[in-house]
Order: sequence, then structure tokens, then C-alpha cells
Amino acid sequence: KQEGVSFEGVILSNAQFECTIYAFGAHVASWRSLSDLEVFKTKPEFLFVSKKAILDGTKPIRGGIPICFPQFGKLGECTNQHGFARNATWEFVGSEVDEEKVLAKATFTLSSTEKTMKEFPYKFKLNYTVSIEKEFLNTKLEVINEDEKAFEFTTALHTYFGAKSITDIAVKGLNGVRYTDSLEDGKKCVEGEEEIRFDKEVDRIYRRNVALVDKERLEIIDRVWEDKGVLSQHTRGVAMTTKNLNDAVVWNPWIDKAKSMGDFGDEEYKEMVCVEAAAIDEPVKVKPGASWIGEQTLEAVINLAHFSV
Ligand code: BG6
Repeated sequence: KQEGVSFEGVILSNAQFECTIYAFGAHVASWRSLSDLEVFKTKPEFLFVSKKAILDGTKPIRGGIPICFPQFGKLGECTNQHGFARNATWEFVGSEVDEEKVLAKATFTLSSTEKTMKEFPYKFKLNYTVSIEKEFLNTKLEVINEDEKAFEFTTALHTYFGAKSITDIAVKGLNGVRYTDSLEDGKKCVEGEEEIRFDKEVDRIYRRNVALVDKERLEIIDRVWEDKGVLSQHTRGVAMTTKNLNDAVVWNPWIDKAKSMGDFGDEEYKEMVCVEAAAIDEPVKVKPGASWIGEQTLEAVINLAHFSV
């Protein structure tokens, strides 16, 4: 929250986690453990939000989970990069928590308006459900075509993960997956390596075309907690699985790009990495009256005994 800016949104909690969602952008801006993470000597927050993020609704929030719709980047007719959904105030539909405090969820909705029709000339309705269940965060985007014509869109759940130190971060799970490098005008077609490490600007679209499930999940591992000798005890991370969001964008702005962004601190590139669940390579087609659902599930893995580091 920013001084002088009133917060409109929902704070969800179950017995283990708390999650903050702004109505502006239906934007998840925090997902944190309520338990003591003293062993990791870190904040229990798993997402990154810039200290310079604008929270008054004049600009998308820099961090958390922006929703890119109806286009990723500049891949569409919208004047706003990444579409207009992250720039709009969504309507809060409702929230619920079960009695055992295992599952808590909230739903937001956004419908087409005259303004959105100028950029994306179709009637649509979006439903976005955020749920926390035990140590899982699930974000589910439903796109309903309410028009008489079919439409196409690209999308991403543009998650900013927090890092203690970017050079200790590893992203795993994209071995052998072809990617295009957005820093080379998307021309280069290369295959992903065993693990992605960061020592320069990275901006890639991995074109998986298959869902990220079970053993094919992505792992974002913060190795800073490695303790030589007891390796797996002191590493924390997040595992990502998806449904219908088969591409993955990996982005870190590094030094120069960080300096060029007004709502991002010059040094903050060291504290984050974006790993985005996306549908880019094959735009999603939705027939009149039909709908599509894309989902991302993040698992906070605090005791990483089952991570192979
Ligand atoms: C990433 C893109 O998804 O988002 C990058 O791959 C882009 O190219 C980044 O710089 C941030 O975009 P924005 O519009 O939030 O500054």
C-alpha cells in the first residue's frame, strides 16, 4: 500500500498463507507465508512488487501478477502494451473461506465496454478466480465470448517472483524447449538449457505448446539458502504448473532497462525474476458463446527436500 492511496481489493488468508488482490487489474500483489521463515533469513513474501510501483490506478502495478489480455506485449491492436486488463478496475464478485481455513478464494470480473471495443472490437466477459489452498496459489482466467463473431487473443499471467539475489536464482524445467529471444527481435530460435541463470538482460518466449504439468513443471529456485553440505534444506522456491497456458516468458530487465523504467528501482533487478505462464505462440480462438480457461498454479516449496538442486 502507498501513503495517501486507499486500497480497494481483497486480502485472502488460509491457515498458512495470505494473498492481497487489488481490484485494479485484479492484480495479485502479495502472496506470503504466515509461518515463521526465520530459517531462511528472509521475508515470507514469494512475489516481488517494486518499491516504486504506482498504486493509484494510473499505471499497471509493477510487480505481483499482472494479467495481460487481450494481447501479450505488442502482439495485437491494443495501444497499451500487454493489453488493457491490467489497466482496468475489475468488479469484485465475492470471496469465501472454508471452515477449516484450508481454501480461500475470491473472484473478480471484467466486461467489455465502449472503450475496450475501440481496441478489441468484441463483446467479452472475463472471470478471474484467485484461490489459496494450503501452500498453493491458483489463478484462473476465464474468457467468455459474448459477441456474434469469433475472436482471438494472446495472454499471460505475468508473475514477478521475489529473489534474494538474482545471481543465485535458477529457473528449471525448460530444457530443450525452443525459445525466441525478444532482445533479438524474436528472430533467434534456440533451445533452452538445463537451468536458466541470470547475469545479463533476459527476455525470452519459450514455446512449449504443451501444458506444464507434474514432472514438467517449472521451478524457480532461490539458491541463496544453500548450505554447503545440507544443500536441499536451505533453498526455497516455487513450482509452477499450468492448464492451457503452454508458453513461458522469462524476463529480467537487468541494469540499463531497470534504469529506464520510472516505476522500478535501479537496483531492483537483483530482487526479481518474471516467469510468465502464457498463450502466445498459438493465439487462443474463442467462438461466439464459447469460453476458454487458462490456469496457473504456484506451489510454495519452503522445505525443498524434493527439489533436485
Ligand atoms: C515482459 C516482456 O513480459 O514484460 C518484456 O517480455 C517487457 O519485453 C516486460 O519489458 C515488462 O513490460 P511492461 O509493459 O510491464 O513494462
